[in-house]
Amino acid sequence: MRRKLAAGNWKMNGLRADLEQLRSLCAAKGGEDTDILICPPALLIAEAAALCRGHSIHIGGQDCHMARSGAHTGDVSAAMLKDAGATAVILGHSERRADRGETNDIVQDKARAAQNAGLMAIICVGESLEERENQATLDVIRQQIAASVPEGVTGDNTVIAYEPCWAIGTGLTASPEQIGEVHDFIRALLEDRFGSDKGQSVRLLYGGSVKPDNASQIFAVPNVDGALVGGASLKASDFLPIIKALDDAAKPS
Ligand code: 13P
Repeated sequence: MRRKLAAGNWKMNGLRADLEQLRSLCAAKGGEDTDILICPPALLIAEAAALCRGHSIHIGGQDCHMARSGAHTGDVSAAMLKDAGATAVILGHSERRADRGETNDIVQDKARAAQNAGLMAIICVGESLEERENQATLDVIRQQIAASVPEGVTGDNTVIAYEPCWAIGTGLTASPEQIGEVHDFIRALLEDRFGSDKGQSVRLLYGGSVKPDNASQIFAVPNVDGALVGGASLKASDFLPIIKALDDAAKPS
């Protein structure tokens, strides 16, 4: 059984005062069946990790460099994230692929660096609107999975997030059919490459305008093991109902 995962990506949002939202999450505490991860901006990781210590909420980064250390001004290594208290890192988010020109090869090198540092890599894939309209979605996903995901994948060190670019921050969500098709496809690709046991153990998250009012519908889709949530992870009052929907989806019906 794969444990459900509710992951929040704060992106470039949040000042120290906003850690209050994390305090509220800690106070409300998540369900037994759901892992909770918040990825705040790098500068808040150490303080966030300290305040979540002893609670069942994990803290992650939003990117890391592929090198262990060295002359890379402004960058943060996987070891530094780990040292600050992070247990995971988001890699290859479409905003970084678009804004920073991150290629599949770069994402794979970063994922390897995360594995080596003992961080769980959340590797993001997803098609653009144009690619979907040209019926290229599955080809794009195949390429991204083949080239962004390193060898040595296990359910502990890797999570895949399917985030269709056109659904991010737009209020548009992929339909359950669209999500199901891509998640089943990713599952088959992972099983093919890493074998059935490992392929089955990797969690697949959906991301793209997940909100309290659409979460249950999304979590009912087979092979959806949770969500990577942007805007609705910034406030505990929005994120808690999403966690609750995931808890409910984890309960045997
Ligand atoms: P939104 O939930 O704001 O659409 O963002 C999704 C996302 O990009 C999470 O990584």
